[in-house]
Amino acid sequence: MECAVRSRHPTVNCPVAVSRIMRPDDANIAGNVHGGTILKMIEEAGAIISTRHCNSQNGERSVAVLARVERTDFLTPMLIGEVAHVSAEITYTSKHSVEVQVTVMGENILNGVKRVTNRATLWYVPLSADNVHSVVKVPPLQYSSPEQEEEGRKRYEAQKLNRSESKQRNATIIFPTINVEPCTVGYSQSSLIHLVGPSDCTLHNFLQGGVTMKLMDEVAGIVAARHCKTNIVTASVDAINFHQKIEKGSVINVSGRMIFTSNKSMEIEVVVDVDHVLKSPQESAHSVTAFFTYVSLGKDGTALPIPTLKIETEDEKKRFEEGRERYLQAKARRTGEVTKKCQ
Ligand code: COA
Repeated sequence: MECAVRSRHPTVNCPVAVSRIMRPDDANIAGNVHGGTILKMIEEAGAIISTRHCNSQNGERSVAVLARVERTDFLTPMLIGEVAHVSAEITYTSKHSVEVQVTVMGENILNGVKRVTNRATLWYVPLSADNVHSVVKVPPLQYSSPEQEEEGRKRYEAQKLNRSESKQRNATIIFPTINVEPCTVGYSQSSLIHLVGPSDCTLHNFLQGGVTMKLMDEVAGIVAARHCKTNIVTASVDAINFHQKIEKGSVINVSGRMIFTSNKSMEIEVVVDVDHVLKSPQESAHSVTAFFTYVSLGKDGTALPIPTLKIETEDEKKRFEEGRERYLQAKARRTGEVTKKCQ
């Protein structure tokens, strides 16, 4: 991966730009770049810029870990053969956290055409390089105007509020189930087990947030494909909070189930459970939960109707209704954004 750093001045917000050509092994089964690969690249750029910022002054050395990703929309597909340009910029710092905004562009290097494929906002927290359990203070960012700082503070307060809800949601458990009847929740429910090895980890020997998101997207994609039997793509991921570090040598169980289907999209819940194999079973824990929205695409790239999810239990019904609520809220937000842009 080529990494161009524009400035090394410690207190000035110097963007990070990373570029990489998209190869066939970055593709999903539809032939486009895997949503998980893009999430991983976004997270890597965020980890570089936030760790650099946190070490920009004399003081305790630290490594920034991913604490949260805001809702991320996949605007257009990235194609194999294109160059992905990932640029990251720090937009706010609180006492102990760093907000990073990342833009991903796909470039067709045969004709020079570029377009934005993703925008994401991530929050990192620096942990001491000597003691992974100790959160380190973040050097304050220099803002270009008081308004910029105020806008950042509002985003910080909003995500803090949202986090307490997600802590409750993190109590979800996806129990193994099999159902041979197509279009039921049990029919498409899927999981994968992964041993967290050295190449998955940060300098602290804990699982990288980007690797976790890639595995989560993989499972969500399997659920979507099992349900639809067509080519499917990630449309968006709801905000994800990473409340727990996952150590090298842990075994993670990544499970996904269909929650809601609308006309042309579907919502899949993905849960990551951690089994610290070298510790007692009581130390197994629930780590991350996220909602992925997928769309099924026909050969001409247009969205296909989604088979309606067959609901069989009261719990499934409750989750379906909650999914519908999230779907309606996201739709209203998108419509609001489009209206604002047109004004
Ligand atoms: N999103 C954004 N910021 C968060 C956060 C989240 N989910 N959780 C905590 N923070 C911020 C807090 O706001 C605080 O900053 P502030 O003082 O400026 O407001 C800072 O983190 C420290 O909070 P604190 O309560 O002291 O720490 P904590 O015990 O909540 O630990 C983490 C925070 C991020 C270190 C901890 O949750 C963790 O280790 N998470 C896993 C990180 C990781 O391994 N990521 C990859 C997972 S695969």
